Amino acid sequence: MVGTSKLGTAVVTGAAGGMGRAIVAELVRMGYRVAGLDIDLAALEQVREQVKKQCSELAAEHEERFLGIGCDLTDEPAIAQAFEQIEQEMGNIVALVNNAGTCFMGEFPDIASDELDRQMTINFSSAFHCCQQAVRRMCSQPGVKKIVNISSNGAYNFDVFDPPHYRASKAALDTLTKDLARRYALDKISVNSIAPAMTETPLFGVLTQEVLDKAIAAMPHGRAMQPSEVAAWVGFLISPAGDIASGNVIVLNQGRDVR
Ligand SMILES: NC(=O)c1ccc[n+]([C@@H]2O[C@H](COP(=O)([O-])OP(=O)(O)OC[C@H]3O[C@@H](n4cnc5c(N)ncnc54)[C@H](O)[C@@H]3O)[C@@H](O)[C@H]2O)c1
Repeated sequence: MVGTSKLGTAVVTGAAGGMGRAIVAELVRMGYRVAGLDIDLAALEQVREQVKKQCSELAAEHEERFLGIGCDLTDEPAIAQAFEQIEQEMGNIVALVNNAGTCFMGEFPDIASDELDRQMTINFSSAFHCCQQAVRRMCSQPGVKKIVNISSNGAYNFDVFDPPHYRASKAALDTLTKDLARRYALDKISVNSIAPAMTETPLFGVLTQEVLDKAIAAMPHGRAMQPSEVAAWVGFLISPAGDIASGNVIVLNQGRDVR
């Protein structure tokens, strides 16, 4: 069994990406053991190193805090296997952050059905299956358990560039948030979405420089948001302060879309 944290284990998907790394760092800082799932094994190894460095600064045992698992989240049996491994090696799962995702930039109406399917599978079905695995394990546990789904402003702001299949995948995720929040309220599983706007991560690479510049210029603070700023909100929801919040979609965009 890995780890001794009293807080239990948090699972973060897409742990090796820009937002994922910041969320892992925040949860480690808070004292959680973190299991990180990602398809990118080399980048997961970098996260392991990052946690090692962070733990030496915190004077905490690194090996007890982070387990990186290579997992293609479009593969349901692989997700089931990863959760089995996490339970065996890290014990009780008390939090899940569905963060893995991407944005395909096909132009409607010329979006191939394969691109549509992949968009929905990576952004929505992966989170759906992770929730199935997590909820089964959370229901019998004491205390308030947490699920945080990383959605997007793109599901709500129709001024910016986001393609329709990306928007739809995130809108579906937010409906899952509300359904599970209601369905599992008595089991004390709090489920919320965080819907960020432009956050500086490698995902910016899907945009042309012109589109990126225009989108950043539209941010009221004149700059993109940072992954650590979004991670702080994830940490807040997972902390005891978040116990009484469930079924919300929290929009983070510097007030860009207030009318
Ligand atoms: N960056 C932004 O401006 C922004 C804005 C709104 C929402 N989001 C959302 O934030 C989340 C994190 O994105 P990011 O900006 O950190 O992007 P990122 O590309 O840096 O990270 C995404 C991570 O997901 C992983 N991943 C992708 N497909 C996978 C699969 N099939 N199996 C396992 N892992 C897979 C990637 O390997 C990567 O590590 C995404 O859901 C994204 O839609 C990002």
